[in-house]
Amino acid sequence: MQNDGSHPFVIDRLTDSPGVLRCEGHRGSAPNVRFRASLPTGRVPALSQSFPGEGGPGADMSLETIARLAGVSRSTVSRVVNDDPRVRPAVRERVRAVISDQDYHPNAAARSLASRKTRIIGLLIPGAVSFVFSDPYFPTLIQGITDACNAADLHVMLMMDPSDDPATIDRLYRRVIRGRHIDGLVIGTSMIDDPLVARMRDDRFPTVVIGRRPDEPMLSSVDIDNREAARLTVEHLIDHGHRRIGLIGGPRVVIAAQNRFDGYHDALAAAGIVADPDLVLDSDFTQSGGSAAMRHLLGAPGGPPSAVFVASDTMAAGAFTTLAEAGARVPDDIALVGFDGLERHLQTHPTLSTLAQPITGLARAAVEMLRRRIDAPEAPPVHHLLPTFLWRRGSCGCSGPAPPGSVWHPTGTVIAADVQGDPRSHAEKGGEPVHDHPALVAPV
Ligand code: HPA
Repeated sequence: MQNDGSHPFVIDRLTDSPGVLRCEGHRGSAPNVRFRASLPTGRVPALSQSFPGEGGPGADMSLETIARLAGVSRSTVSRVVNDDPRVRPAVRERVRAVISDQDYHPNAAARSLASRKTRIIGLLIPGAVSFVFSDPYFPTLIQGITDACNAADLHVMLMMDPSDDPATIDRLYRRVIRGRHIDGLVIGTSMIDDPLVARMRDDRFPTVVIGRRPDEPMLSSVDIDNREAARLTVEHLIDHGHRRIGLIGGPRVVIAAQNRFDGYHDALAAAGIVADPDLVLDSDFTQSGGSAAMRHLLGAPGGPPSAVFVASDTMAAGAFTTLAEAGARVPDDIALVGFDGLERHLQTHPTLSTLAQPITGLARAAVEMLRRRIDAPEAPPVHHLLPTFLWRRGSCGCSGPAPPGSVWHPTGTVIAADVQGDPRSHAEKGGEPVHDHPALVAPV
């Protein structure tokens, strides 16, 4: 123990034998004045309370003290602290009142020993997502997860696995997941060949994936219908009269990017337009990537496109910069539509038309689904698709906000839990859209 002036005594030696705690020490201001004391272990809380300033009020309080003040047993206090339902409501109230009066904070380690829960959930951002710090999608997602956890009295452990090093992934997996440092895991985005996904499934570890994984129906997932949303967006450009439409896509290791790529081709095929491969570029979800891709499109052998579907707003902001530098007007020379609904963070002129996805809604739904999985690990997996929203504004050739009532993506439905673990959406299976699910939130 250090003497910072607030402690009159400094303990030099503490010996713990059954039933007795012996301590030796000296006076803080006078090292030659020594003392020795033996205390029955039952009085230890009283000893620690006599040293104020060690971690604030309540920090030294013990379960026994709370039990004594509430007139119940230690195990009853422990049950209340661990939300065990086997306590009568009146007793629970009384114990909680004492806990609150005394500003008592249960020791997290002791609490998790008793409950076998850490109240920590992991948020894994796959290491291959090198754009995590340059794509506002991720801060928005992380903020949403953190808010949802705070509201549920949970903590978040952010993990960024270096996916290119199998030994490090293995160590992370054994230490954090097998070592049960966390109660469950949210995987922040779905990657093709993510090495951790199969291990979570095999271990039946409570996991929710943000992004669809039809190849892993046993892992719960929450997503939007990226393919259908992209199809709808490109169809909107076709409705504006465009036929030479480019794509600036995301990295196709991200399943959402692959789905948006497929949706772009679906829309062209449905309109009888043959895609020009020179107008289809894979980029990286960053602003500089979007700028570079737009430079390529401006120099395309068959001439630039008249419209471009950009698979993220961040890349669209980069595309805008290139167009401004080249003196091209949006939408008159080239129309643009983005994806994500992050335009509040990205000021563009004219305003960016974008397919908004409820990023915060995905985060909240993932935390809620994970809490349920942690409470009922054997329950069948569930798969939710959240609705999306097409903001038709200046950059596609429409102006102003979208007319009310015409905006929710008709197939972007929230689906009911599927007891068979079928990851297809409710709409894909021919069901009616459900619009009143609690996870449904306005676009961010
Ligand atoms: N996943 C889904 N949507 C996104 C992403 C992502 O990684 N980046 C930008 N929009």
